[in-house]
This record gives sequence, C-alpha cells and structure tokens, in this order.
Amino acid sequence: MPGTARRPLLAGNWKMNPLSAAEAIDLARAVTPAVRQHASVLDVALFPPFPWLRPVWDAVQGTEVELGGQDCFWERAGAFTGEVSAAMLAGWCRWVIVGHSERRALGETDEDVARKAAAALEAGLRVIVCVGESEAQFVAGQTAEVVRRQVAEALKPLAASSSERLVVAYEPIWAIGTGRNADPSHADGTMGVIRQFLGQAFDAGGDAIRVLYGGSVNAANVASYVELDGCDGSLVGGASLKAEEFSRMIAAVAAVSWSPAA
Ligand code: PGA
Repeated sequence: MPGTARRPLLAGNWKMNPLSAAEAIDLARAVTPAVRQHASVLDVALFPPFPWLRPVWDAVQGTEVELGGQDCFWERAGAFTGEVSAAMLAGWCRWVIVGHSERRALGETDEDVARKAAAALEAGLRVIVCVGESEAQFVAGQTAEVVRRQVAEALKPLAASSSERLVVAYEPIWAIGTGRNADPSHADGTMGVIRQFLGQAFDAGGDAIRVLYGGSVNAANVASYVELDGCDGSLVGGASLKAEEFSRMIAAVAAVSWSPAA
C-alpha cells in the first residue's frame, strides 16, 4: 500500500453477530472515534446483519463510518422469498460483500457471484468480491489458478467503467476464523496474481481497484499485510466484533498509510 494512489479500506464483516440491535449500535458507536480520527487517510466500512442495518445506520449518521450488506440478490424485486436486493440495500448502504466463502460453501457459484456483483454495481453500490482457495487447493499449489479463475468469472460481466467501485478481497478459506493467517509472502504473491488480472481486464482502470487481504487479521498482524505494495487494506471478521481491537487496527492501517513510500 505505501506509495499507491489507492485509499486503504478496512472492512468489518460482522457475519451473524451480534445478537441484538442494542449490541450492534454499541459496537458501531464504539469504533466511531477511531474512524473519525483517521478518516483523512482511510475508509472504514461495517457490515452488520440485515436487520441491524437500519439501527446502525441511525447510530452512525453524521460520522465517517460507511455501511454495507453481507450479501445481495441479483433481481431488483419480486417473488424471491428470503432474498434482499442490491437496490434495497442501496437505501442504507454504500457497500456490499459478494462471494464470501461462507456463502459459496452454501452453494453459491461463480456465476451467482458475477450476477450479484453486476446487480450491486447497477444499484450504485461499491462491491467487495471475495475469492480464495481451499486448504486442499493451497496444499496442492493451485492457489493462483483457483483465484485467477474466480476473479475472471466474477468480473466477466462488469464494464471497465465500474472499476472504481470494485474491490477484490483475497481470503484463503483455511485462514478464515482459524487464527492461521496466511504468510504475508503467500498473500502478496496471490494479490499480485489478482492485480495482474485486473490490469489486463480493466486496462488503466484496473489500477484503481483495491485488493484486500482477509483471514484471521487482527491488530497484531494487520500492518504486515497493508505494508505490502499490492495490499490496500483488509476484510476483517472476528476482530471487527471487538471495538477496542478494531479501533487499534484502524490506527495501525492509518500509520502505514502515513509512512513514506517504500
Ligand atoms: P476472520 O474472517 O477475520 O474471522 O478470519 C474474515 C472474513 O471472513 O472475512
């Protein structure tokens, strides 16, 4: 990240937590001071469960905290029980995550992810497209091939003009929620593969697309990723539920982005 024109992004994916609106509001409010303090150098987005979007939206009004949904459906409206459209999210959110491995594990395909990403961009949202290899693929040395295919499939239908609203998060599945964060050199190599693809697919626009690392990132290790030239921030799960730790992560990312270009 040091020396790039891209603004760092720290994204907090709360997954199916917390259990009550009151706790969600408290969590959002508790990270607001750190967001404010460092808003000149980085973007911070929170991804609460759908029912908490409205109360959290109320709680962060007038602050720099950005909000997003954890998923969306590709149709705008209609008979799709249980789904939430990108157009609906656009009323409350700036962001949406698509293709998280926990959704892919429930049956979501590359084609589904591509349709969701396209619908989200169409609705005016900023989109984090998640990609990453399984442990077996990692062990077999197939990371680059798997990730390149996932990125190519997800971004295929997208116009180059939308590139400034696109983010790609590289999250090795074996590193998510396990405490086994990927070695920064492995993350660096894979993010390099992603950036090379983006450069080819989007020409000059590819340079504006932020690439994040995710998977057991916390306050102690976040700097080792964002210090990498090809890493523009992080998608954080478990550590984003701890206000004090997430605030320290915000400060750590800000400190790297202030440091002189490597
Ligand atoms: P983790 O989750 O930080 O808890 O590993 C990351 C994610 O799923 O985005």
